[in-house]
Amino acid sequence: MSKTTFSSKIGLIMAAAGSAVGLGNIWKFPYIVGENGGGAFLVVYLVCVLLFGMPLIMTEFLIGKRSGKSAYGAFRALSGNNRWQWLSWLCMLTALLIMGFYFVVTGWCFNYLAEALVNAFHGMDMNGLTAHFTQMTSNLPRTIFFSALPVVMTAAVLWFDVNKGIERLSKILMPLLLLMMFLMAGRVLMLDGSNIGMQFFFRFDFSQITPKVVMEAMGQCFFSLSIGMGALITYGAYMPKTQDVPRTSVEVIILDTLVALLAGVIIFPAVFAFGFNPAEGPQLVFVVLPAIFEQMSFAWLSAVLFFTLLCIAALTSTISLMEVSVAFLAEATAKLKHPMDRQKSVLIVSAVVMVLIISCVCVDSLFDAFDEITSCIMMPLGALGMSLFVGWFLPQDGEKGMLSKEKAIKRWARKIFVFFLRWIVPAAIIVIFLNSLGVL
Ligand code: TRP
Repeated sequence: MSKTTFSSKIGLIMAAAGSAVGLGNIWKFPYIVGENGGGAFLVVYLVCVLLFGMPLIMTEFLIGKRSGKSAYGAFRALSGNNRWQWLSWLCMLTALLIMGFYFVVTGWCFNYLAEALVNAFHGMDMNGLTAHFTQMTSNLPRTIFFSALPVVMTAAVLWFDVNKGIERLSKILMPLLLLMMFLMAGRVLMLDGSNIGMQFFFRFDFSQITPKVVMEAMGQCFFSLSIGMGALITYGAYMPKTQDVPRTSVEVIILDTLVALLAGVIIFPAVFAFGFNPAEGPQLVFVVLPAIFEQMSFAWLSAVLFFTLLCIAALTSTISLMEVSVAFLAEATAKLKHPMDRQKSVLIVSAVVMVLIISCVCVDSLFDAFDEITSCIMMPLGALGMSLFVGWFLPQDGEKGMLSKEKAIKRWARKIFVFFLRWIVPAAIIVIFLNSLGVL
């Protein structure tokens, strides 16, 4: 069987980092940090990344690489039975729900980019911009149009084989994104008063750590690293056999965390330098940032640059989200009388996603519900399932062992990995679940 793989290691790293780096880093991370008291959240977040992120990214990559299958067939291929198939369906459902709201926010970004290009924010103050944001989000046809735009772009990339579409594009867009972010950060740090924002972001006040902060940090960690719904299983299946899983995982984590930190370094100094409130919520980057740009020199260029990078970051993530469902559908129908090829799957998934988007746009509570349910329940549940699956039900060593082909990982590191998968990750996820249900 000929199997699709990426043509280079760097291509896979860029694609996986492209999946991880997204609105979660640039739009969501700063506003959650802002709402949860700054530095305290950052510390809890970083702990979550080490505790859950590292073992779980490795787990997903390993499942994909060892099985060579998408989220649909991977669990069955490795376990030899159907008992884990619920995890496959959970992955698919999670991907769909995330897309429902993710594309809407991506649409906002495209909308703002279009407006930034024609200098539409010129002369607007905070009140004007707040009204503008509300107006935009309540203009249903416009919102749907701008959400459909990234759907079409994503579908166009997925239309091609993974190494022609996803890989080639990620290798261009990711370095560009990093470069643009460093430029913006440098620009903001030159503002007078930027140090107050840096203090807010980096000062650790442990009294601010509450169960709610921990819960949110965990959800954000899953979301930001794209774990718990099979995105990295899908990419893992495209991993060249010679590529090393632990190393790739570390590289993806470093890139993702770097971008989140950069986003904070861009946003908080600017927010404080101009006397705005960091706890603005979801509208932080859409209202506060344009207001700030208006007060800076090179206002037009800064706004265009920022919204361009937001769109790029979002697109590489929507690509991974949609690829989960496309690969899933193609694989699930492969043995049927009318199998679906990549192109047909792309069309069907796009149509379903459009329905979800329209529901999210028309029913506000659905938008919030999709966001909440996926981050706080479905992704942790998926991650719990995967850690138990690999930790307890699959052999680790020997010919069939999950880690047997990973030459670079040392004995002691293997032991730690397995220990985390068996005990630490499941225990932590369960404790946080019980806590959020009010049981503890
Ligand atoms: N990680 C992306 C972000 O931070 C969002 C995302 C893309 C995602 N693919 C995913 C989240 C898969 C969970 C699972 O914006």
